[in-house]
Amino acid sequence: MIEPCTFVIFGATGNLARVKLLPALYHLEQANRLPEGMAILGFGRRDWSREEWSRQVEETLEPRVRGKFDQEAFNRLSRRLHFCNGDLGDVESFRHLAGMIDTNPELPRNIAFYMAISPADYKTTARNLAAAGLNEEKGGWRRLVVEKPFGYDLESAQILDSCLHRHFSERQIYRIDHYLGKAMVQNVLVFRFANLMLEPLWNRNYIDHVQITHSESLGIAGRAHYYDGAGALRDMVQSHLLQMLALVAMEPPAYLDAESLRDEKVKALKSIRPIPRNAVNAHAYRAQYGRGMVDGKEVPGYLEEEGIPENSTTETYASLKLYIDNWRWRGVPFYLRTGKRMAKNSSVIAIRFKNPPQQLFRKTSIEKLEPNWILLSIQPMECLRIELQVKEPGLEIRSHTTQLDASYCGLSSYQIDAYEALLLDVMEGDQSLFLRYDEICTAWKVVDPIIQAWSTERDFIHTYPAGTWGPNDCQRIFDNEDHYWRNTFSNEEP
Ligand code: BG6
Repeated sequence: MIEPCTFVIFGATGNLARVKLLPALYHLEQANRLPEGMAILGFGRRDWSREEWSRQVEETLEPRVRGKFDQEAFNRLSRRLHFCNGDLGDVESFRHLAGMIDTNPELPRNIAFYMAISPADYKTTARNLAAAGLNEEKGGWRRLVVEKPFGYDLESAQILDSCLHRHFSERQIYRIDHYLGKAMVQNVLVFRFANLMLEPLWNRNYIDHVQITHSESLGIAGRAHYYDGAGALRDMVQSHLLQMLALVAMEPPAYLDAESLRDEKVKALKSIRPIPRNAVNAHAYRAQYGRGMVDGKEVPGYLEEEGIPENSTTETYASLKLYIDNWRWRGVPFYLRTGKRMAKNSSVIAIRFKNPPQQLFRKTSIEKLEPNWILLSIQPMECLRIELQVKEPGLEIRSHTTQLDASYCGLSSYQIDAYEALLLDVMEGDQSLFLRYDEICTAWKVVDPIIQAWSTERDFIHTYPAGTWGPNDCQRIFDNEDHYWRNTFSNEEP
């Protein structure tokens, strides 16, 4: 049973709250998953009454809910809504918040603070919470939820972490990577560790290489200021893509509790071979989208987007080759790539197996034997596919690729957003799907040499037309000539 809590949203009127948090809370309400007596308290600079805040939330939710707007569920949600007018930089606002929670019996004493704010405000907010005594677990628990990006590089992540730890213990800090809340990402663990037949194959003896792709057809969606300072490597690779790599590469944990799981992820991340400064170009590749066509419409190039400096060399596409130097993976390349304004929205983990040791079919009509692949599609559809070779019907020995699809391929009828799962975990106090500081720190260590090299090479960046699969020489980081990016699920189209 989840205990009732007060769920405080800093940045209640911001983009993250509107697009992700409030819809997630509404869907949990609709599914009767929010605990009885739980309250949602928006904190922001607007001078809103409860009624006004509720009206704003309704307006925000209407176009964003799955299916038809459920007025009955919204009415239940609305009864939980409270608003506190305040400024993140002002200690008095936090004292006012503490007073409100102390005196209003509708606001439970277990409190989750969600920082849906600019990372530049994380430290001040944590400091002001402590100054108002809101970090002390008096009469209930206190949990602090921190969004990504956690730092800007290794050094800034360390500074942020020590500031948070001055006021909150590790047990109280929930660092979000919303990819870990995606059903199919969690399925990587189930697929690997609940199926005995895979384990003997899941290593350097049988796997040729692993690809992890996240592509988006959208551009920077109005986030020019943040994105131009971050770029694709920080925005996606350091967090979401390295988390997916850790789940594919980690050893089976002894138990499924938060610490055992995270210990194994950290071990995998720590085994990634550091990229020496002089080898950055062989391991990493960046590019930026130019003007192009997406869904039949012409879209502007990155430099033409509003708010982007005309000489920006920030990457909107990044690919990376990593090696994991342990017994299981030594020598197996892990290729990671991500890009904005690419041909399709898709997140896929593709695992290619080696060829059989003997070319038994050399003298038959089989010209080239295709390797086996395992494809785990995270979005837009959740899908698990294994590609095998079978004989074509007929007198000749010819092979073709057949696909074993898990039955839930296609659009699942039971869709949940990653945030729904993660918000429930915060309320339940389960940190398994949240990042421990050493994971974040190790992930920064992996990308830091690239960040440093790219930050000094600011006069040129490759480009690719919007709506494509990236620049022409995006194959450059591959180890082997017969490697190619799996862009689609169909084996005919490389
Ligand atoms: C965010 C990035 O963390 O993840 C965005 O900041 C990116 O740039 C988004 O678009 C992708 O998440 P999802 O859930 O839409 O795949």
